[in-house]
Amino acid sequence: MVSISLFILGTLITTVISQECAPYTSSFNFSGYPANWKIPTSTVFNTDEFKQLNSSIDWTKVPNITPHKTVNGSIDQTGYSASDPDCWWTYNLCTTPKTAGINPDVTVCPEPGTWGLTYDDGPNCSHTVFYDFLKANNQKATMFFIGSNVQNLPNEAQRALADGHQICVHTWSHNYMTTLTNEEALAELYYTRKVIKYVMGITPLCWRPPFGDVDDRIRAIAQQLNLTTIIWDQDTNDWDEIPDGVETSAQIDANFQTFVNRGLNGTYNYSGTIVLEHELDNNTMSKAVEWYPKIKSAYKHVVPIASCLNITQPYLETNFTYPSFFEYINNDNGPTNYVQNTANNSPSPSAKSTSTAITSYNSLISMAVTPNILFLL
Ligand SMILES: *[C@@H]1O[C@H](CO)[C@@H](O)[C@H](O)[C@H]1NC(C)=O
Ligand SMILES: *[C@@H]1O[C@H](CO)[C@@H](O)[C@H](O)[C@H]1NC(C)=O
Ligand SMILES: *[C@@H]1O[C@H](CO)[C@@H](O)[C@H](O)[C@H]1NC(C)=O
Ligand SMILES: *[C@@H]1O[C@H](CO)[C@@H](O)[C@H](O)[C@H]1NC(C)=O
Ligand SMILES: *[C@@H]1O[C@H](CO)[C@@H](O)[C@H](O)[C@H]1NC(C)=O
Ligand SMILES: *[C@@H]1O[C@H](CO)[C@@H](O)[C@H](O)[C@H]1NC(C)=O
Ligand SMILES: *[C@@H]1O[C@H](CO)[C@@H](O)[C@H](O)[C@H]1NC(C)=O
Ligand SMILES: *[C@@H]1O[C@H](CO)[C@@H](O)[C@H](O)[C@H]1NC(C)=O
Ligand SMILES: *[C@@H]1O[C@H](CO)[C@@H](O)[C@H](O)[C@H]1NC(C)=O
Ligand SMILES: *[C@@H]1O[C@H](CO)[C@@H](O)[C@H](O)[C@H]1NC(C)=O
Repeated sequence: MVSISLFILGTLITTVISQECAPYTSSFNFSGYPANWKIPTSTVFNTDEFKQLNSSIDWTKVPNITPHKTVNGSIDQTGYSASDPDCWWTYNLCTTPKTAGINPDVTVCPEPGTWGLTYDDGPNCSHTVFYDFLKANNQKATMFFIGSNVQNLPNEAQRALADGHQICVHTWSHNYMTTLTNEEALAELYYTRKVIKYVMGITPLCWRPPFGDVDDRIRAIAQQLNLTTIIWDQDTNDWDEIPDGVETSAQIDANFQTFVNRGLNGTYNYSGTIVLEHELDNNTMSKAVEWYPKIKSAYKHVVPIASCLNITQPYLETNFTYPSFFEYINNDNGPTNYVQNTANNSPSPSAKSTSTAITSYNSLISMAVTPNILFLL
C-alpha cells in the first residue's frame, strides 16, 4: 500500500516537474534581443539601440585590459602578472579595484551574525517546490537571474518578484565576463537588465559575475549601468554535485556544515556573510531546503542582500520599496512593509508587448504553478 502510494506520489511529482518544464510560450515580443544563451554578436551591436547605448558609455573610464582566453572551457591565467594589476577575482579573489573611480565589490553582509541568502542561475522551470518553501517560511532571498532564462521562463521570473525576492542580473549567457570584448560584456549586462524590465517591470541595480569572473574593466562597464558587483565570502559549491559536477552529496553537506559551525562558534559575531547557492536544479534546491533550518538556528538572521545593506529602493524605479534591515528582521512572521506596486509591472512603453496574460501577481503565481502555455523561443 505504502509503496503503491509512494509510486503514485513519485509519478505525480515527476508529472508536475515535466509539466512545469514543458516548453511554453509567452506573448512577450522578444525580438531585438541577443540569441538565447549565446554571447551577443554584431547582430545586436549593429542596431541603433545598441549604438546609442554604446555611445552613452564613457569608455575613458573603462581600463584598457585585454580580454582573457578560455582553454578547454576553463579560463587561462597563463602569463598574468602576479601583482594583479586588474583586480581580477579569478586570479586571487581581489574585490577592491586597483583602478581609480571604480566601486569595490560587495562581499559580506555587514550586520553581525547575518547570513545573506543568494541563489544564482534562475529562474528555473522546476522551482515551484523551492519557491513554495521560501514562501511558507516568509523568507526572501536575492536571486541572480540569467537573462536567457528570464526570456525562456517569464512567468517563473515574475513569481520571484511577486514573492518579494530581490532580483539582480547574472548576465545573458553565463560566460566568463573577463574573456569578452567591451561590447559583448556591455550587451550581456544591458540585455539582461532589459529583459528583466520588460518581463518584470523593474530595473535591477546589482549583478553577480558568473564564476565570480570580474576585473576592473568589467566592473567599470557594470558601474556605468548602475550595477553594483556582488560576490560572496562563503561558497557552498552546491552546483558541483554529481551528476552535473564531481563532488558527492556528502561533500556539499560538509561545506554547509562548516558554514553552520562558523555561525555557531562566533566566526560571524562581528560581521555577516554572503553565501553562494544556486537554484540551478533539483540537487541545489534540495540542499537549500534541507539546510535552511540549520542555517536559521546557527545565524541570528537570514536576509536578502538588499536588507542587510539597508537598501530600501532596490530598483531604478523609485516607487518600489523594500524593507530595511531592522524592518526585515522585525517582521519574521511575514514582512508587512514590503510594498509592491503592481502598476509597476507593465512592460516598458518602448517594448511593445502583445501580452494579454500578465495582469496581476496573483494570476501570475497560479500560472507559475500550473502547466504553462505557449511556444518555445
Ligand atoms: C516585435 O517587435 C519588433 C521590434 O520592436 C517589431 O518589429 C515586430 O513587429 C514585433 N512583433 C510583433 C508580433 O508584434
Ligand atoms: C562603441 O564605442 C567605442 C568607443 O567609442 C567604439 O570604439 C566602438 O566602435 C563602439 N561600438 C559600436 C558597436 O558602436
Ligand atoms: C585541451 O584539451 C586537449 C584534449 O583533451 C588536450 O590535448 C590539451 O592539452 C588541453 N589543453 C590545455 C591547455 O589543457
Ligand atoms: C543610473 O542611475 C541614475 C540615478 O538614479 C539615473 O539617472 C540613470 O539613468 C541611471 N543610468 C542607467 C544607465 O540606468
Ligand atoms: C569555527 O568553525 C570553523 C569551521 O568548522 C573553524 O574553521 C573555525 O576555526 C572555528 N572557529 C572558532 C573560533 O572556533
Ligand atoms: C560570539 O558571541 C557569543 C554570544 O555573544 C559569545 O558567547 C561567543 O564567545 C562569541 N564568540 C567569539 C569567537 O567572539
Ligand atoms: C532546471 O531544473 C531542471 C530540473 O531540476 C533541470 O533539468 C534543468 O537543467 C534546470 N535548468 C533550466 C534552465 O531549466
Ligand atoms: C526534487 O525532486 C524530488 C523528486 O522528484 C521531489 O520530491 C522534490 O520536491 C524536489 N525538490 C525540490 C526542492 O524541488
Ligand atoms: C541599517 O540601518 C540601521 C538603522 O538605521 C542601522 O542601525 C544599521 O547600522 C544599518 N546597517 C547597515 C549595514 O547599514
Ligand atoms: C512606478 O514607476 C514606473 C516607472 O518609473 C511608472 O511607469 C509607474 O507608472 C509608476 N507607478 C505608480 C503607481 O506611480
